[in-house]
Amino acid sequence: MSRPRVFVSRIIAEKALEKLSEEADIEVWQDELPPPYEVLSEKVRDAEGLLSLLTDKVDAALMDAAPNLKVVSNLAVGYDNIDVAEATRRGIPVSNTPEVLTSTTADLAFTLLVSAARRVVEAEKFTRAGKWKTWGPALMLGQDIHHATLGIIGLGRIGKEMAKRGKGFDMTVIYYDEYPAPVEIEKQLGLRRVSTLDELLTEADFITIHVPLTEATRHLIGENEFEKMKPTAVLVNSARGPVVDQKALYNALKSGQIFSAGLDVTEVEPIPQDDPLLTLDNVIILPHIASGSFVTREKMALMAADNIIAGLKGKPLPNCVNPEVQQR
Ligand code: GLV
Repeated sequence: MSRPRVFVSRIIAEKALEKLSEEADIEVWQDELPPPYEVLSEKVRDAEGLLSLLTDKVDAALMDAAPNLKVVSNLAVGYDNIDVAEATRRGIPVSNTPEVLTSTTADLAFTLLVSAARRVVEAEKFTRAGKWKTWGPALMLGQDIHHATLGIIGLGRIGKEMAKRGKGFDMTVIYYDEYPAPVEIEKQLGLRRVSTLDELLTEADFITIHVPLTEATRHLIGENEFEKMKPTAVLVNSARGPVVDQKALYNALKSGQIFSAGLDVTEVEPIPQDDPLLTLDNVIILPHIASGSFVTREKMALMAADNIIAGLKGKPLPNCVNPEVQQR
């Protein structure tokens, strides 16, 4: 019997590739850059499995080009790059890589929070530029983190981990989520839910975003929302770039409407080199690395491989995001 074919859209952890090879004939895209859409469409023509990354657009046309596709396994917790409704219509299960990256992602988001508050990157550049002349009473002053209020938008897995980190820094932690957490969780994490986003924006000293990108969350934070924030506020986005209106963010940072921002994601990735945000000192922009530890990326790759293998065998995917497909 011929083995199923799987296309893997980038080089991922060796252990995961070995695992996949035991079950399927795999082709791994070797370039550092993602396969262009047309190339990906070509590559999936005979594939039964696609191991995709968040940089791959998996839409109806791509699925049309892949008549044998049985499973799409995304190496990321977010899956806004995939038209899941379309996959569901076609009976194709889709999976993501939750949980294994939760703490690693929260670590980086909190690093951004601390760094943006205390101007870590700006100060380091200052040192290297030979501008450090003396200990200065007003040199590179930032915002206190301890005893400040942390506002979490979206209390999912990563949001909860941010709450724990905030508590470790003696912060007051509030959150806004349309679905309130169970009272025991609020108690255990020492959280208070606010009933509107505006309340969070006006109360919080630090605002950190942990919602998926959907039509409802696109530009959730824009001009009106920046107007509600404190001039000392620090915004952290490690979710998806388009959740924040980047032009409005630029204006807020430039005019001093907020103090600073730490971003792991941008509206367009990579951020174009002529983007005005890159001219500002009060924003830190990282190249979407929040889940990027050696250990976590290997766990994600193994999880993505397990999902593909299950799909090829017609078994339920361990991390299916459209389980209704599996109940048919
Ligand atoms: C990264 O952004 C992910 O969704 O895993």
